[in-house]
Amino acid sequence: MRSTGRALAAVVGAAALLLASACGSGEDDTATTTVEVFTWWADGGEKAGLDALADLFASACPGQRFESGVVAGGAGVNAKQVLNARLQHNDAPDTFQVHAGAELLDHIDAGQVQDLSAEYGTWGLRDALPAGLVADLTVGDGIYSVPAGVHRANVVWANDQVLADAGILTVPKTMDEFIGNLERLRRSGVESPLALGRDWTQLMLLESVLISDLGPKRFSGLFTGTTKWDGKPVRQAIGDFARILEFSNTDRDSLDWPDATRLLIDGKAAYQLMGDWVAAEMAAATFNGYDTFTFPGNGKAFQWMADSFVLTTDAANPEGARCWLRTVASPQGQQAFNRRKGSIPARTDAPTDGLSEYQLEAVSIWQSGTPVPSCAHGSACSQPWQNAANAALGAFSTSGDAAALQSALTAAAKQFIRQP
Ligand code: GAL
Repeated sequence: MRSTGRALAAVVGAAALLLASACGSGEDDTATTTVEVFTWWADGGEKAGLDALADLFASACPGQRFESGVVAGGAGVNAKQVLNARLQHNDAPDTFQVHAGAELLDHIDAGQVQDLSAEYGTWGLRDALPAGLVADLTVGDGIYSVPAGVHRANVVWANDQVLADAGILTVPKTMDEFIGNLERLRRSGVESPLALGRDWTQLMLLESVLISDLGPKRFSGLFTGTTKWDGKPVRQAIGDFARILEFSNTDRDSLDWPDATRLLIDGKAAYQLMGDWVAAEMAAATFNGYDTFTFPGNGKAFQWMADSFVLTTDAANPEGARCWLRTVASPQGQQAFNRRKGSIPARTDAPTDGLSEYQLEAVSIWQSGTPVPSCAHGSACSQPWQNAANAALGAFSTSGDAAALQSALTAAAKQFIRQP
């Protein structure tokens, strides 16, 4: 873990310069050939995806050196804080991971990231990416990030053996059936059949319940102002969410998502609602006794988020960072990254060989289903809105106060919604 990457790079760079001149070569300034790539992909399947990109970068960008600036913590809960502090202290990495959509807006407003419209033209990205995604990435006349891949959030991961032991052999189609299965699992001795983690993972679960109860259109309207947060439908969804929460592990507030996935792998839980980065985590743990299904009642809704990379305004090595972005954007980069990360290529022309059966199905739902954005993962909400929603969910996990949760979510929307 590193939090002062640029400062460290400067020290290391200075030392390397001294060494180079001491050795008489004097040709390399490592400070300008290092590209610091800031992410939260520290371990397991996430790191496997990043490593694949770094390997490709090494061959595609000779003379440039990849440096991982990484701060662990699912969904970037820690990384975003460190990044924001660094940006405020003029210690920007060359490029950083951010979700396409609302999450990027604060960085654009603060002038921290560069417009990549020209690169989009040179690299042919406007034609290679789906038009809807390009529209979501475009802010004003600019386009400020390059997507590495598209993840789906509203997926349930199921341990086959645990379900079979409880005599559950079919996929639940409705939330009531899902809750029926959770009850049955508990009766058969699985104390906490739903593996769950901290605040933002609880927000993901609530979002899936909201998609089922409100439908994709009204769900999306929660983030544009056309659906009310303080109405009866949201109240009912919070009630359904609370029922499901009762079946989760009581230590949920202290677990990150891989800890919850571990409960599933170890057979202590039967289900986990989580984005499809879980596939990469399962692969890293060489566990394949699982199945997946869309959260019951979500139909063909594809709750999307796109991990993307930016060029920072204060990048010390903009040329190297551009080469990183070009690698990320290339068909080969998209293939190498996504087959390991569990996501699907954002480019429509990236090769699909090497993608799993699950990923190929995700590609087809992405092409034919209904896209809905995610607040927990920034396609729908700005960072302050995410923080407020996470805090509200964390408080509810302890208090169980449904009215307080609804009014906190209503207040967050009122405060942070952006009028078009
Ligand atoms: C998401 C991100 C994914 C994955 C996940 C868990 O926000 O888009 O790539 O890293 O967090 O950490």
